[in-house]
Amino acid sequence: MITNRTFTMIKPDAVENRHTGAILEKINVAGFRIVALKKTQLSLRDAEAFYSVHKERPFFGELVSFMTRGPIVSAILEKDNAVQDFRTLIGSTNPAEAAEGTIRKLFATSIGENAIHGSDSDENAAIEGAFHFSGREVF
Ligand code: RTP
Ligand code: MG
Repeated sequence: MITNRTFTMIKPDAVENRHTGAILEKINVAGFRIVALKKTQLSLRDAEAFYSVHKERPFFGELVSFMTRGPIVSAILEKDNAVQDFRTLIGSTNPAEAAEGTIRKLFATSIGENAIHGSDSDENAAIEGAFHFSGREVF
């Protein structure tokens, strides 16, 4: 398994608020190489499958409706220690608790609408990357 990659989505709130360019810039400056990138919109079925680990949680309905309400920008990123370093770059789930300078501190508005996703393990990074991209879309 490739362990120097992670997967991200710029979520609908951040795309709506025109933060895509600024977020990609922060990702570049932090030393990640963008190996795949596209703008798409998740269907209900896509979002339910992607977040199926949270299906019993009280916020699941809200999460699925948020993640499907507009386009997202998804990407596969490469860097040493990608998963952990990217979680550090995006900050805590709740932007109120996120460190200064993190993407969520800068661009998220609430715990639900928190601007960006980052994979939580090498295994999930590989699964999530394959969910969004075909081999021909990765460079
Ligand atoms: P993500 O998977 O999107 O990178 O976020 P995360 O690991 O920091 O947080 P996780 O626990 O995996 O939650 C997934 C997403 O569900 C929404 N959420 N809403 N209303 C709430 O209490 C609540 N808690 C989580 C957020 O969009 C969160 O990123
Ligand atoms: Mg998560």
